[in-house]
Amino acid sequence: MNTDVSVYEVGLRDGLQNEKAIVPLVDKVRLAEALVASGLRRIEVTSFVSPTWIPQLADADAFCRALPKAENVTFSALCPNQRGLERALATTLPEIAVFVSASETHNKKNVNRSTRQSLDEFKDVIAGAKRANRRIRGYVSTVWGCAYEGAIPIAQSLAVTRELLSLGCYQVSLGDTIGAGTPRQTREILTAYLAELGPDQLAMHMHDTRGTALANILVGLDCGIRDFDSAIGGMGGCPYAPGAAGNVATEDLVYMLDGMGIATGVDADAILMAARVAEEVAGRPLPGKVHQAGWFPKRANVGASGTPISKLK
Ligand code: HMG
Ligand code: MG
Repeated sequence: MNTDVSVYEVGLRDGLQNEKAIVPLVDKVRLAEALVASGLRRIEVTSFVSPTWIPQLADADAFCRALPKAENVTFSALCPNQRGLERALATTLPEIAVFVSASETHNKKNVNRSTRQSLDEFKDVIAGAKRANRRIRGYVSTVWGCAYEGAIPIAQSLAVTRELLSLGCYQVSLGDTIGAGTPRQTREILTAYLAELGPDQLAMHMHDTRGTALANILVGLDCGIRDFDSAIGGMGGCPYAPGAAGNVATEDLVYMLDGMGIATGVDADAILMAARVAEEVAGRPLPGKVHQAGWFPKRANVGASGTPISKLK
């Protein structure tokens, strides 16, 4: 098994968009610093969406200006439309992510347009981002099923993925938006995708609503996927996809990979520290398992800065 896996952190975006509380900017910065200190190299920080639709991320512009300086880290943010791109281009973010659902109903509920309208709008968004030398990632939601429409045919999500790649996305992250997937289904989906696409063109974005995210990720690894999205502490969910629980927790994903001898570049102690910061920032216990149970075998129990966790706030 290839040991080079890239973890794409979405807690600040997918996580905080689904928190009841609106987290103050200063706490978002604290969490961003903890995530950077853990060794994560790809961090999605916010969304340039309507503040009416997602009030939790209304401070996107200011937050991007306040991000820690981190040369080795690629920060990214969601952009649904031209207005979102304009906001992104006013920042120094090197990357944006466009998002669309394979399910017509979910796309309509999420962004108030049809899948076709979203894809048409992305032509200009992606072209504009490329002219400004920004990289573009894509998301396709509801690949494993939709809260409104039930099962989504593989051909339907694959067609949307193909189009995003042909528009210029360097990679498309396949979303199990409501955490419905099971391993045999995952193998079936990935086999169909990989018959025409390279594994590096794909990532997996698994919500863990039914506890099957890591099992699905193992199937992904076996099929050759090396890019996995996760959220610190297991935060996350789409406010416009009823029943969607958090993403697979970053610390759980890193723990599993580490135990399998698969390097992620993420430090064990520092990621547990970041999960602790995430709990403080969210103001509630988070569902990730490894930050509750601890690393095994036991680690030095120090935070990212070398300060014992017990001494950190
Ligand atoms: P709309 O109401 O149809 O927009 O919303 P509109 O174009 O008619 O504009 C209405 C107003 O919104 C106008 O302001 C626009 O300027 C403003 P007014 O003239 O009334 O003052 N507006 C904006 N403001 C700021 N930034 C923008 C923007 N665009 C328009 N970019 C819209 C359409 C797409 C904006 C809205 O539906 C929206 O923001 N939706 C966001 C949904 C969202 O963020 N969902 C969660 C993320 S997706 C997800 O979680 C899934 C994922 O994790 C993968 C997975 O799990 O499967 C990625
Ligand atoms: Mg998501």
